Amino acid sequence: MEAAFYPGSFDPITYGHLNIIERAQTIFSRITVLVAVNTFKKPLFSPQENVEMIRQTTRRWSRVEVDFTEGLLIEYARENNIRTAVRGLRAVTDFENEFSMALTNRNMWSEFDTVFLMTSSEYMYLSSSVVRQIAQMGGEVGQFVPACVEQKLKEKFG
Ligand code: COA
Repeated sequence: MEAAFYPGSFDPITYGHLNIIERAQTIFSRITVLVAVNTFKKPLFSPQENVEMIRQTTRRWSRVEVDFTEGLLIEYARENNIRTAVRGLRAVTDFENEFSMALTNRNMWSEFDTVFLMTSSEYMYLSSSVVRQIAQMGGEVGQFVPACVEQKLKEKFG
């Protein structure tokens, strides 16, 4: 299979994202985890911080790279000649938004496609915002995120 990228805001990366990355890197020749900007969200971490946490937590997979873009996904895809994006689907509630993003991206570049992997059932209700909220209120997040992410959350809210 050719190279693909996995875009998201990853603010911060969770075990749910890592599960998708682990599976995607067995399907594609190379996976670029791409930290991108979701203008509807107010980020907790800077893109550089999120990139660094993803680098640390994906180091064990040789086919995984990490990058950041401030621009449109489709521009990144064209510039890097990558025609496939991978996205995780959690529940039916994700579908509408994902459907609209996938179609919009394909309207902008007809050769472009999005491949969806179903999130594993244990991560079905996990989200970065829930993790941020629990950490902010002093709760334990070790079951949702790797140790280095947990540490960064503690520093942020400490
Ligand atoms: N397991 C558990 N949770 C998961 C998950 C999984 N497998 N996959 C995603 N999630 C959660 C995330 O934690 C996140 O939670 P949050 O909403 O509480 O933050 C949510 O699902 C989705 O986040 P994520 O996949 O990290 O990013 P996103 O949906 O915010 O990403 C972009 C959207 C960045 C891809 C999109 O805004 C984009 O393409 N931006 C670039 C600009 C552009 O091209 N715009 C036009 C798009 S058509």
